[in-house]
Amino acid sequence: MYSEKVMDHFNNPRNVGELENPSGVGTVGNAKCGDIMRMYLDIDEEGVIREAKFKTFGCGAAVATSSMATELVKGKTVQQALEVTNTAVMDALDGLPPVKVHCSLLAEEAIHAALWDYAQKNHIEIKGLKKPVEDIEEKLQEEEY
Ligand code: FES
Repeated sequence: MYSEKVMDHFNNPRNVGELENPSGVGTVGNAKCGDIMRMYLDIDEEGVIREAKFKTFGCGAAVATSSMATELVKGKTVQQALEVTNTAVMDALDGLPPVKVHCSLLAEEAIHAALWDYAQKNHIEIKGLKKPVEDIEEKLQEEEY
């Protein structure tokens, strides 16, 4: 049911933890399943993500997608990080079962929330970044997942 990569990132999640004084931090939840994800980003003066950490209180797929998401955004510019969509995260994990697709959306939105926080703090605009939702259900109802 789950790919080897998903199992690997679930059993050995990368970048678990918190960052002290992060450049941006964002928390997103899913009221329906009760899962919560918090993403911390450390961004240098060039706008490159140097460090990413996460804390996820949630299902195995949410843990695996947050782990992969942090791996994918590291070394990217804030603009490039927007390309780390839930589809990109799922592809990098060799897919997720259909009922678990929404878990990957939590990872995408948590990155966006952390980037949004960074942009707000620095009074900059990240092109294409929309104000993140606090509860992913709002998004799931807007879009068809
Ligand atoms: Fe809620 Fe996976 S079941 S994020």
